[in-house]
Amino acid sequence: MTYASPRSVRLAMALAVIVVAFLAYSLPPYLSGGTRVPSTFGLHYPLLVAHVLLAAVAMVCAVGQIWPGLRRRHPKVHRRTGRIYVATAIPAAGCAMVIGAATPFGPILAVSDVALAALWLWFTVDGFSAARRRRFGRHRRQMLRSATLALSIITNRIWTPVLYVCLEPLRDSIFGGNEEKYVWLVAGVGAWLGWTIPLLALQLWLRRQPIAVTDRSAHLSRL
Ligand code: HEM
Repeated sequence: MTYASPRSVRLAMALAVIVVAFLAYSLPPYLSGGTRVPSTFGLHYPLLVAHVLLAAVAMVCAVGQIWPGLRRRHPKVHRRTGRIYVATAIPAAGCAMVIGAATPFGPILAVSDVALAALWLWFTVDGFSAARRRRFGRHRRQMLRSATLALSIITNRIWTPVLYVCLEPLRDSIFGGNEEKYVWLVAGVGAWLGWTIPLLALQLWLRRQPIAVTDRSAHLSRL
């Protein structure tokens, strides 16, 4: 049996701490009827709350699924957590697509939100269906992409304040001091960077994986 390296366990623990901190900051308003996002249509708020709560469960499951060694040592836990991930990620992505298209934070963010939600949905559905068809190499790659997008929402929240400060001079020079248009730019660019960079990094990492490693998950066919 192969054991997880201490380095990968440390990385997974760091990720778990970051996810807990992110959720502890993000969830409270939506558990008490509050919000940080102004509504743009009648069903916006219920869809936003549904998105946030479902995505939070999916995010916790994503950390569990990529926890080093869990799949090998506890295949049943891997399978059950995976089903909860799929059952929460799919509706969370559906809600995200609708509220994303109607975001109050501008068109650059709207396009990013819809693209991200569509990819999240596709990787999740295709990854799940690959497992059902016992194509475990594809299942692993698609689910890694899906989990990366789910977790990328954390870097998304980091880029926006950083850009807000760094691009400050543009507010007057390009937008004539217009705060709304400036926020649209910053939120939009931050959102694109938030998910494209982690997805690209994952693609590069997957390319470097020898076929044997990528397809090692074929042993799951015993499940
Ligand atoms: C990966 C695909 C995701 C997409 C496309 C997406 C999209 C969105 C959209 C469109 C909004 C409304 C704000 C806006 O108009 O831009 C939103 C809000 C929010 N989302 Fe997601 N989201 C995703 C994943 C997640 C995940 C995994 C979480 C984890 C809990 C999450 C948590 C939240 C929270 C907390 C808000 C409220 C904003 C805030 O209070 O800061 N989202 N999301």
